[in-house]
Amino acid sequence: MSTSINNSEVSNSRDNSTPQIQDVGLLHENSMLQVSWSDGGRDIYPYVWLRDNCQCPSCFLAVSGSRVTPLRILLLEEKPVHAQVSACGSHIDLEWQDGHKSMFLSNWLFDRAFNNQRRTQRYEKTLRLPPVYWGSELLDDIPTSSFEEVIANDKALLKWLTQLEVYGLTLMRDVGTEGGQVNILSRRLEDIRRTHYGTVFSVRAKPQPNNAAYNSGPLPLHLDLPFYYHTPGIQVLHCLKQASSGMGGESEFVDGVHVANKMREESPQLFEVLKNTAVDWWDVGTDEYGKFNKISQQPTFRFNHRGDIIGIQFNQAVRDSFMDASPQEVQLWYHAYKLYANMLYDPDNYISWKLTPGTCVVFDNTRVFHGRRGFQGFEGERELDGIYLDWDEARSKRRVLNNKFNGVHHESTSGEQQY
Ligand code: OGA
Ligand code: ZN
Ligand code: ZN
Repeated sequence: MSTSINNSEVSNSRDNSTPQIQDVGLLHENSMLQVSWSDGGRDIYPYVWLRDNCQCPSCFLAVSGSRVTPLRILLLEEKPVHAQVSACGSHIDLEWQDGHKSMFLSNWLFDRAFNNQRRTQRYEKTLRLPPVYWGSELLDDIPTSSFEEVIANDKALLKWLTQLEVYGLTLMRDVGTEGGQVNILSRRLEDIRRTHYGTVFSVRAKPQPNNAAYNSGPLPLHLDLPFYYHTPGIQVLHCLKQASSGMGGESEFVDGVHVANKMREESPQLFEVLKNTAVDWWDVGTDEYGKFNKISQQPTFRFNHRGDIIGIQFNQAVRDSFMDASPQEVQLWYHAYKLYANMLYDPDNYISWKLTPGTCVVFDNTRVFHGRRGFQGFEGERELDGIYLDWDEARSKRRVLNNKFNGVHHESTSGEQQY
């Protein structure tokens, strides 16, 4: 029995079908169970993890997919005394020092293997779909769906959600020009995110606007609502009326993560500054619910544990003058911020077109910048309805539909789909 726990020697490249378990070994020195698969690969699993994830009815409530053992009874040093592979290789039985018995199915173990391939697969297929970054070339190829189809048909909904996750920018046609259509989309996703601008907000020139969007001036590229720590993830803008030809009002979009990745390559030090310097974002005023006072301190780029950007905060209008940084850090930060802003407007990165009434643009407010050119005309000439949605709900829907149409390959906990 090998006692090596070097993960590089375990299962390298394998396809998705689950191989059978051929052999198991108890690596007591490392407190790991080693599983040898029929395709020649091997994986190792910590004893403590196996015991914690025992699937027996007294440890795990399959119907709700919940662990029911309290953490205080988990012993970090518990070891199995016996490990046996079933005759057909479809599961293993473990017996622990205290006499407790556990059974693990091969596909359950295979899906949860700690090798890089399996972890990346889960991250990219289930957690978040890998983005396709884009620049100006997307203008001729913006993923487009029919609103009617998305509302009526689950496959169309899945396709649209997938495109939204991958490109962060989608267009919908056949939305009509009556107000309130965004509510139909919100009900379809069983989600709407209320902010102090309401659940449905109307973007049009208003007397005494409480937001820069509610006049007819230009809105430089920005992301909405950075003053929320839990920034709304998805923005929907439905065009009801548009400024007449030649009068401005064009929309602008840029893939902010694409540009951030270029900046990381070209100016790594300034990129780090945007990663590490917190900026104060604020919005203070009055709305239909009364007075609001929102403040967050967040850097321009937020990352997850894998180093992927999961949120961009950037908005000239609602950037506060307070900064939790030294004077020298503030100076340096301006250099970084300006560089990033200049790169956003590089014609290679930027797209712009004029929304036509009856279309709706839906985009990732954690990734894709939007803006608009100023327009002329009388009050109410250009009108958009907007809502925000959350990524947690949209991804949940995408996973449910993906399982429905493409099958869950395993990844279930109790035999039921557990997403
Ligand atoms: C907004 C906004 C864009 C537009 O309301 O946040 O950016 O096209 N509006 O008016
Ligand atoms: Zn158990
Ligand atoms: Zn905006």
